Amino acid sequence: MQISPSILASDFANLQSELEAVRTADWAHVDVMDNHFVPNLTLGLPVVEALLKVSPVPLDCHLMIEDPDRWAPGYAEAGAGSVTFHVEAVRDPVATARAIRAAGARAAFAVKPGTPFAPYEDLLPEVDMVLVMTVEPGFGGQSFLADQMPKVREVSEAARRHGGEVRVQVDGGVSASTIEQCAEAGADVFVAGSAVYGAESAADAIEELRTLAARHTHP
Ligand code: DX5
Ligand code: ZN
Repeated sequence: MQISPSILASDFANLQSELEAVRTADWAHVDVMDNHFVPNLTLGLPVVEALLKVSPVPLDCHLMIEDPDRWAPGYAEAGAGSVTFHVEAVRDPVATARAIRAAGARAAFAVKPGTPFAPYEDLLPEVDMVLVMTVEPGFGGQSFLADQMPKVREVSEAARRHGGEVRVQVDGGVSASTIEQCAEAGADVFVAGSAVYGAESAADAIEELRTLAARHTHP
């Protein structure tokens, strides 16, 4: 069970210390938004390059951008541990996933709440993770969409059938009150923004989320 705190909920004026605050996590989740794929703008490759120099944990870059075919490999080349593109935006998912992996990062694809997983099942051999969005991408602090749990289950079962090491990530509204149903459905990487950075102690919040998720470990 892996926890990936989203720095979208952190203090952007102090990103280095905000990364230090989550050093006990498995990843730090970086939401890249371009104001085209989603109606919000955050940060891009130059900032990610700077964060990579100081982060105590590997960066899990979630690209909510148009034309990930063009941009995603650059994040892998810069040293991101994992790079996720959206199937709704990508033109050639196989080539993009292969370029990410060739640059030494794990590759993943994401599906928005309204996007079914089944048409993309054939991509499983090309990726290390599938991200099932549990809010509409674009903003932190939204309410968890429990109606995405059947899709989490579907992805997790497909990943098992596929046999490889494909992780299932959930992102959006994940907190102490929603993480257990995600784990129960088969998720094993949990993004949490407000639940970690909004807590008095980020380290305690990470520990609590990890403990709750571990109650539902699948064999
Ligand atoms: C939403 C982002 C999420 C966001 C999650 O578009 O992809 O990573 O930061 O934030 P919370 O955990 O606050 O819902
Ligand atoms: Zn995200």
